[in-house]
Amino acid sequence: MIDDIEKIAVEITQYDISTVANLENFRIHYLGSKGIIKSLYSALKDVPNEKKREVGQQINTLKDKIEIKFNNQKEIFENLEESHTIIDLSRPPQDETIGSRHPLSLVRAEIIDIFSRIGFSISEGPEIEDDWHNFSALNFPPEHPARDMQDTFFIEKNENEIALRTHTSSVQVRVMENSTPPIRTISPGRVYRNEAISARAHCFFHQVEGLYIDKNVSFADLKQTLLYFAKELFGDKAQIRLRPSYFPFTEPSAEVDISCSICNSRGCNVCKYTGWLEILGCGMVDPNVLKSCGIDPNEYTGYAFGMGIERIAQLKYKVNDLRLYSENDIRFLKQFTSGF
Ligand code: DAH
Repeated sequence: MIDDIEKIAVEITQYDISTVANLENFRIHYLGSKGIIKSLYSALKDVPNEKKREVGQQINTLKDKIEIKFNNQKEIFENLEESHTIIDLSRPPQDETIGSRHPLSLVRAEIIDIFSRIGFSISEGPEIEDDWHNFSALNFPPEHPARDMQDTFFIEKNENEIALRTHTSSVQVRVMENSTPPIRTISPGRVYRNEAISARAHCFFHQVEGLYIDKNVSFADLKQTLLYFAKELFGDKAQIRLRPSYFPFTEPSAEVDISCSICNSRGCNVCKYTGWLEILGCGMVDPNVLKSCGIDPNEYTGYAFGMGIERIAQLKYKVNDLRLYSENDIRFLKQFTSGF
């Protein structure tokens, strides 16, 4: 009987269990209820008593061997099955959802691009500002209504009056304080005002400030730069017109309208049948502002302008509710394909 067991042990090592069907046959043949192991155990009763213990142990060892071989192969098949379900090459591919850039980012990038081409650098400043940079250095008189709680979000109402900046003109001041002319820079950024949120007003929005300081900078330079900008942004047919206006930090000041690209200046409800749309404020930097920022107004002149990014996005994409820009509605956002 010991001979038989040894033969079976050899047979097991050679048994081919490389397919699932073979493995099952192997199990039935050796471990099944009518299998070899079962019959060896029943044959044990005919073994002489003094040999029973030894033969019994041999059968146990043989059974262990069979089980190990069976379990190892079974595990291999199970793993294989799992990995097959993960990389099923016949499955249809999943759609990649590609994001799109926010319309305000697209417009800001375009504005930056246009001014970069004529030598403007980009500068940035903090969104939390002190009274000096947001108001005083820009020639706002102490009693100016913009300093009122109505318009400005104050953070600290002490002698420094720390507030959320109400415009990116504050960056002009920082740039002039920290560099010497010639200065040619634009400053894009977010600004805050204490306004009730509606389709036409929001408590935060985005601006781009422009500043050019050098010897002999004139109002004609300003006009020509803005005309170039309007044509780059809205096409060669775009026209601009300047209306006299007032800002504390520029003298003279103007508001700039662009010909309505929606109706080709024929008159529509967007331009309120005037053929013109207001897009920015501008002017020659007031000598008081130059002085406050450490620049000699007898040696240098300059122009500044400021525009709202939402306003330009509104004209470019015909989106006339400001709230849409900050609601993160995916149905709105996915309409703007960036080409990236
Ligand atoms: N800071 C102004 C605003 O927020 C915009 C502006 C107007 C900026 C005229 C300028 C400027 O630099 O010259 O409404």
